[in-house]
Amino acid sequence: MLLLCPFVRSGREGGWAVFHDGENHFLAGGEAMFEVVQNDLLAPNLHRMVVKAPRVATARKAGQFVIVRADREAERIPLTIGDADVSEGTITLFVQAIGASTRKIVEAAAGEVLQDVAGPLGRPTEIENWGRVACVGGGVGTAVLFPLAKALAELGNEVTTIIGGRSEPYIILADELASFSSDLRITTEDGSLGRKGFVTAELADQMGDPERCPQAVFAVGPVPMMRAVVELTRPQGIKTMVSLNPIMIDGTGMCGGCRVLVDGEVKFACVDGPEFDGHQVDFVSLADRLTMYRDVEEKCRIGR
Ligand code: NAD
Ligand code: FES
Repeated sequence: MLLLCPFVRSGREGGWAVFHDGENHFLAGGEAMFEVVQNDLLAPNLHRMVVKAPRVATARKAGQFVIVRADREAERIPLTIGDADVSEGTITLFVQAIGASTRKIVEAAAGEVLQDVAGPLGRPTEIENWGRVACVGGGVGTAVLFPLAKALAELGNEVTTIIGGRSEPYIILADELASFSSDLRITTEDGSLGRKGFVTAELADQMGDPERCPQAVFAVGPVPMMRAVVELTRPQGIKTMVSLNPIMIDGTGMCGGCRVLVDGEVKFACVDGPEFDGHQVDFVSLADRLTMYRDVEEKCRIGR
């Protein structure tokens, strides 16, 4: 039974009445909304948000994502489901505030609500017991890597994790990843934490050591990073999965916005991915499509 919530929101929701039934928030008329339970700043402009979404929490698998809208006017933003707590009915999202719509999402404080959290979407990660697996995360991509690495470890893989960032404040989830990784290596470009340089230097060292060489590699981060990882593993034929983040709109295979070329074929990252065999991905066309709207993106970038 719906109970009248003690507040009637104004401003962002434009004066919509919000109701609460003890589990979910609803707009007048029965449309579900999603309460933010926790919102922490993890790194510059990067928030960890715990959001009440019981059905998504129950149904989701590692590698899947949701599409979030902060309010009725906001853009639809695809966000990887970082973690879920079925008993609490919550999911964890990592949100980098870079433009107007992502900023609206991170501005929702604990107790406030998000308009839509649609999902789970995308294909789950194909988790196998590979033996020794290297999980490589670049910058914000580490947040997307986290659920994959956790699921791989839970299935009994020996997970060695390599994470990198520009400098110490950009290294995220190190303790969380260390809790299930057999080895965690950190790189920073300025040497402020861990090894100075890129994640690929650390991976190259592991691959050169027969005792540590991985049977499979999972890489998530900026396109140049994933491309560099793929070129590193290609000569040895080491299975390498990458998680792609092309522009997405509907997230259901209808708009074609997220198309990528994989093994010469057009695939839609939202329904065929987001993970693909990195050795088959056309990174040149991916990079081109990601820069298509750069002018517009620059106009809504935070700090301008
Ligand atoms: P960044 O540019 O600071 O790079 C992070 C780390 O990635 C670097 O420290 C380095 O270790 C590695 N790296 C970067 N370029 C490399 C190269 N050419 N060779 C080898 N290693 C390299 O990353 P950021 O600013 O935190 O990330 C932003 C980018 O990540 C955006 O382009 C965003 O679209 C992308 N991203 C991708 C995903 C995904 O699912 N693939 C998820 C989130 C963000
Ligand atoms: Fe529209 Fe994938 S986001 S087809």
